[in-house]
This record gives sequence, C-alpha cells and structure tokens, in this order.
Amino acid sequence: MPIAKISGVGAYAPDFILTNQMLSEMVDTNDEWISTRTGIKERRILKGKNKGTSFMATKAVDELLKKTGIAAESVELLICATVTPDMQFPATANLISDNCGLKNAFSYDINAACSGFLFALHTASKMIESGAHKKVIVVGADKMSSIMDYTDRNTCVLFGDGAAAVLLEPSEDSDGIKDAILHTDGSGWRYLHQKAGGSQMPASHETVDQHLHYVYQEGKKVFSNAVVNMAEVAAEVMERNHLAAKDIQWLVPHQANMRIIEAARELTGIAIERVMVNIDRYGNTTNGTIPLCLWEWEHKLKKGDNLILAAFGGGFTWGSIYLKWAY
Ligand code: UT7
Repeated sequence: MPIAKISGVGAYAPDFILTNQMLSEMVDTNDEWISTRTGIKERRILKGKNKGTSFMATKAVDELLKKTGIAAESVELLICATVTPDMQFPATANLISDNCGLKNAFSYDINAACSGFLFALHTASKMIESGAHKKVIVVGADKMSSIMDYTDRNTCVLFGDGAAAVLLEPSEDSDGIKDAILHTDGSGWRYLHQKAGGSQMPASHETVDQHLHYVYQEGKKVFSNAVVNMAEVAAEVMERNHLAAKDIQWLVPHQANMRIIEAARELTGIAIERVMVNIDRYGNTTNGTIPLCLWEWEHKLKKGDNLILAAFGGGFTWGSIYLKWAY
C-alpha cells in the first residue's frame, strides 16, 4: 500500500492586525511583557458580522484547489480540525465542503485542541494508506478571537485567527507521512477549556455574565506540561526513525509560546534556522499554526526534506509526525 503524501498547501490569514501596542490600550499589558514571555508581536483577527471559522477555512481550501489544480468534485473526504466551529453542529467541515463545491466528499470535524491538525493529519493519512481514499483535505482553522475575553490579559494576548489546508494523496515513492506518535491525558482538561456552551453547562444569562464562554487557562500548568511533552514526543519520533538532528531539514512546532518552541529545539538538537517560527506575526491560531507554517515555508521546502511536526494543546493532547516532503 502507498503511504500518504502532502501534495499542496493553501491558507488564509485575515487582514486585520492586532498589535501588542493595541492590546496595551485594552488591558494592563505591554509589548515588552508579551514579547519576552511569548515571542508574539501581533496576531490576525477576523472582522465582519457572521463570519466564522468556515469563512477562513473556505478561503484556504479554495486556494489549495486552485494551486493543486484538482477538481473540487474529486475530493473524497475533508477533515476540519477546529475548537471554534461555526456552530455546535453541524460540523464546520460540512460548511467548508458546501462552500468549496466538494460535492462528492464526506466531511467531519476533529477536536483535539492545539494538536488537532496532527490528529487529523494522522487520521487522513491512514485513510489513504488503507486504500479507502485517494484525495483527502485536512484543514486546521480557528477563529480564536470568538472565544477570547479581551478583558483578561492572561489569555487575550496569546491567540489569533487563521486557517490552512493540505491535500493528501497516495505517494508514488517513499516520500510522505512516515510515522506518528499521538497522546491524550484527559486529566489535563481542567487547566485549559471553555466552561460554558456545551451540554454540561448550556448558555444562560449567568454564563454570559460570568464570562464562561471564553478560554479558561491556567497558563503555568499548561506551560510546564507543554514544555516537556512537545519536546519529548518530537525527540521520540526522531529516535524511533533513527534520525539525528543533522538529518532534519525542518522542525515545525505548534506556535503557542517561543519558550516552548525553544525547549523542543533544544532537546531535539535542531538548529534554530531549521525551525519554522511565525508566532511573532500570528500568535497561537490553535489548529492553524502548523499548516500556516507549511504554507509560509512551502517555497523553501525540497522533495525528500525530513520534517518533524510537533504540538501540545488542551485536553491535554500532544504528538509528533515525521514526514518526508514530497514535492
Ligand atoms: O496552545 C497550547 C496551549 N497554551 C499554551 O501552551 C500556553 C502555555 N502557557 C504559557 O505560554 C505561559 O504560561 C503564559 C505566556 C500564558 C504566561 O507566562 P508565565 O511566564 O507563565 O507568566 P505567569 O502566568 O506566571 O504570570 C507572571 C506574571 C503574573 O503577575 P504576578 O502574579 O507575578 O504579579 C501575571 O499576572 O505576569 C502577569 N501577566 C501579565 N503581565 C502583563 C500575565 N499576563 C500578562 C500580560 N501582561 N499579558
């Protein structure tokens, strides 16, 4: 059976730029604190009434279809990784498929917080490997501004909006998605979640008044878990595939905090110029970070390059994927 390869990337980042300076006029923060503690300088925000995550994801998938030249009707499956679906149901993936004319695709969402893109990529690659499907799109997209409390300096400086999508097809050679290690520790739910709006605590006047529809995060606890687990899982996937730091052309880490990225770089021994970093310009777009990096660096990638993708997020969820770039 052939393995799955990524054969294209498309993305969309909203035009509106929210800078650290602008945030310092909204909450008690400053550029120095945000830059040194997180590495973030600015983030994109989706403006406009009734524009949800699917708006950005649709643009990313449209660009992907255009760039790869494949017909919308030929796509068999679309998986959307998101924590900010347009609606509780149906799946945002369905809205994207409809917008993009994927008439013959079935579609669904995956929610694994910041690791969602990797969980979806692994799932999609197995759909190809099994021989069940030949054209699968994975899109990572989040409108984090829709669940941000812009009166809470602990969280509102961290996140931004964005979307990016990859096409997966069977590989003609040995370049493609080679290995994945994924983890969940459900006990971590308490440190990073959205309290209200689900079946446990449906929306009410009280939940709105108490700001319970926003991201709740115990930053230090998440940080200490992220810093260890993202680095260790990246190192583990390298070791399992007999890869030394010198064999890796690109480390593609989830962009939550520059200090977490640095810890992964240090443990894996990969040189800083081999690490994709765009957190300074986008912040944490949750499911968007890794494919947005692939999109930005696409022109530098060469066939056969070894890439290590790694993420850690709410859930807790974390994981790493080893792939050989295929074009
Ligand atoms: O995507 C996966 C999920 N998320 C993450 O991976 C994020 C993980 N966590 C982090 O990145 C970091 O914990 C944060 C960036 C959220 C916070 O950094 P920290 O070094 O852990 O800071 P802290 O929470 O210990 O806060 C230190 C101080 C506190 O003041 P006191 O109590 O020491 O007086 C905070 O109130 O910094 C204060 N603080 C701020 N000050 C200025 C917190 N946020 C801000 C802010 N501006 N925006």
